[in-house]
Amino acid sequence: MRSTTPPRTYRVKSFGCQMNVYDGERMAELLAEQGITPAPDGEDADLVVLNTCHIREKAAEKVYSDIGRLRREDGTSPLIAVAGCVAQAEGEEIMARAPSVSMVVGPQAYHRLPQLVADAAAGKRATDTDMPAATKFDVLPTRRRAGATAFLTVQEGCDKFCTYCVVPYTRGAEISRPFRDLIQEAEALITAGAREITLLGQNVNAWSGEDDKGRAIGLDGLIRALANLPDLARIRYTTSHPNDVTDGLIAAHGEIDKLMPYLHLPVQSGSDPVLKAMNRSHTAESYIKVLERFRAARPDIALSGDFIVGFPGETEDDFAATLDLVDAVGYAQAYSFKYSARPGTPAATMDGHIAAEVMDDRLQRLQSAINRDQMAFNTSSIGKTCDVLVERHGRKPGQWLGKSPWLQSVHFIGQAQIGDLVRVELIEAGPNSLSGQPVPLDAYSVS
Ligand code: 5AD
Ligand code: SF4
Repeated sequence: MRSTTPPRTYRVKSFGCQMNVYDGERMAELLAEQGITPAPDGEDADLVVLNTCHIREKAAEKVYSDIGRLRREDGTSPLIAVAGCVAQAEGEEIMARAPSVSMVVGPQAYHRLPQLVADAAAGKRATDTDMPAATKFDVLPTRRRAGATAFLTVQEGCDKFCTYCVVPYTRGAEISRPFRDLIQEAEALITAGAREITLLGQNVNAWSGEDDKGRAIGLDGLIRALANLPDLARIRYTTSHPNDVTDGLIAAHGEIDKLMPYLHLPVQSGSDPVLKAMNRSHTAESYIKVLERFRAARPDIALSGDFIVGFPGETEDDFAATLDLVDAVGYAQAYSFKYSARPGTPAATMDGHIAAEVMDDRLQRLQSAINRDQMAFNTSSIGKTCDVLVERHGRKPGQWLGKSPWLQSVHFIGQAQIGDLVRVELIEAGPNSLSGQPVPLDAYSVS
């Protein structure tokens, strides 16, 4: 039975990428403005927003099982909103298949969530998957809460149309948010306690805008302006596309201390024929050349990437080229996925779909190469002294968790507070984290 009472508490569950996490935070802020409060841990919420991801796997199926799980023992359900990319792609179907869902709201329409919630509480079901020209950002409330690290969406959508990818369809065309709005949002986040801001976009390095003097600038110009905000300690950005890398962005890594030495630059495959079939419009060699330029500007830069194994037609030789590329780059970390046919994308109807066992085998081989390099990178950090930005308490008494400049998780025991930058010596490395020891400040000033 669908709930029809005005909700007093909410829970937002975000899946998928960091941009969804950002959207989830913004939806929470919108609901809080309506006087709806977060449901305490372990308690049922009156309103649940499932902020979904459509990029891989049987994401839609997962949504239906999540919806099923929300049904309470007495047969009632909370008010349910399905948001995110599955909502955008399959909104009507969700409404038809899941009667307990009251609202479906796409990634470009969620600023209208309060109205949808009011309608739903009055018993009306509604779908809003518009991609309006006026952006949601203009009407979202000011940021008031932030942890030590915060996300800031600067760019949305994608015009690249890689043949496997749903993003151009679910998130729409590339748009850049205006410079002034971003500076204002960054200032609000810093006032709310953020020490680090990660600029987000599906193609973040395609961001373009005009600064306060009316000059055309790219992502590097935005980073430079943010670096001038005194209480901001660190800047990161993700995800970049190899074809949108500019000289200015590379130079920024050599010149701006607050810009962290970390780059996530997906390549997807090391085989040129596969890259062509993916419509990536770069080659393995041109990609490696771009990385070399980043390394020349910032020799300690930690490199990360995304890979897809088992793209239609991928041969054993193609896959070997991917392993060669991994060997050549030496990633600090990387993400790898089995190809998943997405309805409506060109690759879904290509010939040469790869058998599941072959994909499993390739994924395992690729992940062991990546894990090997990640361990080697972490081990090479032992003995280095660096700042750790403290994000939260660890499990042990007196233990803190934070990130190194190279985005490694670091734990240490010592005096600190969330948001502090603590100088530590890295003393032990595991595959996914390092342990550090705080360095006394006087030792630090002489080093
Ligand atoms: N199948 C598998 N992986 C995919 N990605 C995007 N679309 C697909 C797909 N259809 C991966 C890419 C991208 C990351 C966010 O997800 O590697 O960079
Ligand atoms: Fe998808 Fe390619 Fe756009 Fe990335 S660049 S969002 S993989 S279409």
